[in-house]
Amino acid sequence: MGGARGAVGGYWSAGVARVAGGGGQWRGAGEASPPPGSRLGATAGAHRPPRLLPPRPAEEVAKPEQGQVVTPWDVAGGADGAIDYDKITKEFGCSLISDALIERIEKCTGVRAHHFLRRGIFFAHRELEKIVEAHEQGKKFYLYTGRGPSSEALHLGHLVPFMFTKWLQDAFKCPLVIQLTDDEKCLWRDLKYEEALRLARENARDIIACGFDPEKTFIFSDFEYMGGPFYVNVNKIAGLVTFNQARGIFGFDGSANIGKIGFPAVQAAPAFPDSFPHMFGTNKKLRCLIPCAIDQDPYFRMTRDVAPRCGYVKCSLIESRFFPALQGESGKMSASDTTSAVFVTDTPKQIKSKINKYAFSGGQATVEEHREKGANLAVDVPWKYLNFFMEDDERLQQIGREYESGQMLTGEIKAALIEVLQGICKTHQENRAAVTDEVLQRFMTPRQMDNLWG
Ligand code: TRP
Repeated sequence: MGGARGAVGGYWSAGVARVAGGGGQWRGAGEASPPPGSRLGATAGAHRPPRLLPPRPAEEVAKPEQGQVVTPWDVAGGADGAIDYDKITKEFGCSLISDALIERIEKCTGVRAHHFLRRGIFFAHRELEKIVEAHEQGKKFYLYTGRGPSSEALHLGHLVPFMFTKWLQDAFKCPLVIQLTDDEKCLWRDLKYEEALRLARENARDIIACGFDPEKTFIFSDFEYMGGPFYVNVNKIAGLVTFNQARGIFGFDGSANIGKIGFPAVQAAPAFPDSFPHMFGTNKKLRCLIPCAIDQDPYFRMTRDVAPRCGYVKCSLIESRFFPALQGESGKMSASDTTSAVFVTDTPKQIKSKINKYAFSGGQATVEEHREKGANLAVDVPWKYLNFFMEDDERLQQIGREYESGQMLTGEIKAALIEVLQGICKTHQENRAAVTDEVLQRFMTPRQMDNLWG
């Protein structure tokens, strides 16, 4: 399951979606009034009708020539390799996050919105307003996210949902559960049980390094934690979804092993609070907000469908775009291809040489031509990465303006990016080194937690 944070077809069809101060409601690429320095080009991949979910035999999944495909296991853009996010949002039936909703979040938390929100990286949602409303009324909720531990090496894209979840936890002062789906990876990736469990623990160290609060955060491996109330919920959910429905939602066919067909119930169950009695007791009415990349949406569509039928509130979602490979829109990021991504373990030297050698550039072939025509931000990977990781809005806008006008050269924007990424990786490596076995054990032990809110 490469999906979101893993193998990725493409992503922004334009430069920056939303930079602070841009003003006006964001209407998606191609329609918005672009903020200075941005370039909102035509919506990509619009020439063919998209082939999204369901129902589709599994063999047909991810043949980009057939049009855009987004499932939890496959992400492929349309004819030109780019992902059309407006189309996914419509097909999935989620909503775009409006500026008004972001303002409401800022108001009720008293915290400035994270730049992933301000810039439209987390761009879609399901019933996020219900969470905001609950918070405004002093009611509680919890966060749920996860990772499939398929590789030891995490790349920068893997950190995106966790960085954002950390911000949510701090802003809303709320508890968080993190599911490590080692069982899923055994089924899909043919991993041995021991190896999947080892990877889950190694990945947990990287997740902890993002700064989660040990008093409010529970990280669990499915292999270790499933049993008791969590498994009761898995069983309830599994009993309410037919094979025909699962095939419709996920595209399974008759050749899928039965573990895969049953797995969605495992990813659904943490959205039910009484899966965690050591945190939430037997409370069935506590709301749940799930930050995730949009390829995970099918799981939670299913979860929302069954929730009321077993006495729970439907979970809310806040969903992100995909993080692009170094090679750009249609490139695939893969943990086995070290030139496709910057890994959190990379040295400053490796980062520098990867960006300089492999980051796809929207700059022109010669300096003269570049000065004259400027860069095409819509395809420029350094520009996209800066939108993810440069926090300073003003500097970002300035770089966008200068690079697009040809005043700034490719080497210069790459130098700015290298500096930012070297800083992020260095900090991450230091934080990870501080995650001792004891710290890891603490996060992963089901324990009485008395300070979950506030
Ligand atoms: N299936 C996800 C992956 O492969 C992992 C996951 C489990 C997850 N539960 C989640 C992701 C909840 C987001 C939210 O990466």
